[in-house]
Amino acid sequence: MKKREKINTSKNTNKKGNQFDYAEIYRQLRTNIEYSSFEKNLQVINFTSTNPSEGKSSVVSNLAMVSVAKYKSVLLIDCDLRKPVQHKLFQVSNKVGLSDLIRNFENFDVREDTYFQKFKDKDNEGKLYLLSAGTKIPNPQEMLASEKFKSLIEKLRSRFDFILIDCPPISAVADAIPISNVSDGTIFIVSAKDTNKNDARTALTQLQRNGVNVLGAVLTKVDAGPDHYYSYYYSDK
Ligand SMILES: Nc1ncnc2c1ncn2[C@@H]1O[C@H](COP(=O)(O)OP(=O)(O)O)[C@@H](O)[C@H]1O
Ligand SMILES: [Mg+2]
Repeated sequence: MKKREKINTSKNTNKKGNQFDYAEIYRQLRTNIEYSSFEKNLQVINFTSTNPSEGKSSVVSNLAMVSVAKYKSVLLIDCDLRKPVQHKLFQVSNKVGLSDLIRNFENFDVREDTYFQKFKDKDNEGKLYLLSAGTKIPNPQEMLASEKFKSLIEKLRSRFDFILIDCPPISAVADAIPISNVSDGTIFIVSAKDTNKNDARTALTQLQRNGVNVLGAVLTKVDAGPDHYYSYYYSDK
């Protein structure tokens, strides 16, 4: 995997000239997730939202980058098979990925790196892996709700300490529901700029009605003043 350019874990200055430390914000998010449940070990976390373009993929990729400091091995899975972007963010090929792995699931050995792409830079010692979305398929919903997908997540738990899943939005398709059901917890992304409050409420209710363990929400695209964070996390508990 080549060095990433689009992901930003350094200090930056926004349009108004305020400095914010991206890495610190994502480290706080990681800590908040860790402490959001004392009962259950949170190893597999998925991220969804109401609509496209609310910042899900950006949050997941940045969180994955800072998580390597805490965990021995981290896996990011791109489950948005309709609009996959993680391979672009990490600048790697999407020739084989999740859909291809599921198709060959019988022969899949979790210890092999055939489907995983290792991301290495000066900060993470090669502990971050990406499972990109893979070949386009006509029926992602069926695949993500399948027993094979469920078994895959179980297998991955034996190899990776922390697994982050990038999901499609709730409004478009039902894909995020079965993914949330095989995860230990779900984070709901809300864009301060784009998300309609009532639509978000409807999407959240849909998750909760389906028994999803919603851990909390991340607010993105906040117009940051001098004393405010660029984006932040709050728990619903
Ligand atoms: N916190 C943020 N502030 C401003 N723009 C953002 C933020 N997060 C993401 N974006 C931008 O919004 C667009 C959609 O982001 P993305 O993470 O792909 O959303 P999603 O995965 O929800 O579709 C991208 O152009 C991205 O650069
Ligand atoms: Mg996305």
